[in-house]
Amino acid sequence: MDVERLPYDLSGQRVLVTGACGGIGQAAARLCARLGAELILTDCVVPPGGLMETLAGSSSRDHHFVLCDVRNRAEVEALCAAQGPIHAAILNAGIYTLKDWEDADWDEALGETMDINLAGPVNFARALLPGMKAAGYGRLAIVGSVAAHTGGSFAHAPVHYAASKGALHSLTRWLARRAAPEVMVNLVAPGAIATRMVAMADPAMMQNVPVPRFGRPEEVAWPLAFLCSPGASFICGATLDVNGGAYLR
Ligand SMILES: NC(=O)c1ccc[n+]([C@@H]2O[C@H](COP(=O)([O-])OP(=O)(O)OC[C@H]3O[C@@H](n4cnc5c(N)ncnc54)[C@H](O)[C@@H]3O)[C@@H](O)[C@H]2O)c1
Repeated sequence: MDVERLPYDLSGQRVLVTGACGGIGQAAARLCARLGAELILTDCVVPPGGLMETLAGSSSRDHHFVLCDVRNRAEVEALCAAQGPIHAAILNAGIYTLKDWEDADWDEALGETMDINLAGPVNFARALLPGMKAAGYGRLAIVGSVAAHTGGSFAHAPVHYAASKGALHSLTRWLARRAAPEVMVNLVAPGAIATRMVAMADPAMMQNVPVPRFGRPEEVAWPLAFLCSPGASFICGATLDVNGGAYLR
């Protein structure tokens, strides 16, 4: 590592963010831009008005947005091939659907959740790792969930969501072994974060948590940006809990 450079500095780095139009994705994009990265943002919906302009105003880098459904392997591969070198990727796109396994359409919810929350990151990791390894440097920062540890802390927590994130945590360790030593693969496991994903949740459910509130999207973005940085050079296959103490181990 260049000793003159601050370890969390992302200048000169090209960072891809999936789910970039969501709460955590936008926060991660804003922070990485401020840290000097050139961003490749992607989502299956168009960016909310003002996002790209804000990012452009916060740094001198060019930022790009590409529509892509993470479930579609061909789309993901085309995006990665077209974008050139990518130094780090925040694999963040995910869904949380409130379905019970007794519901008539639960099987569809299971399939969709696995396709987006698990196969999506697989599609990106498979497309990005060969180039990162060949370049001798790379970072994947994956967004899991406290639900992978707890089975979903709250009564309504859906089985398909907890199972998809549990598989994603295992996938992170599998990838970490194969991507090292050139590429560091790690995961951030958020607790309840104030995005639309918890819009229906009652803040009172946090009252017995050591930090008794929902987390803010920036509080997940900070560790994600760290795991994307040169400073994470000896962190391999870790799960970083970001949950205000909702789950302690
Ligand atoms: N908010 C929380 O409490 C919480 C807790 C633990 C983990 N997480 C995880 O954090 C990540 C981000 O969630 P968030 O809270 O910002 O929610 P969000 O709904 O605001 O953002 C999710 C983003 O993923 C995108 N997305 C969904 N399906 C997609 C697809 N098929 N292809 C491409 N993009 C797709 C959405 O369009 C959206 O922009 C998710 O993986 C989620 O599981 C969130």
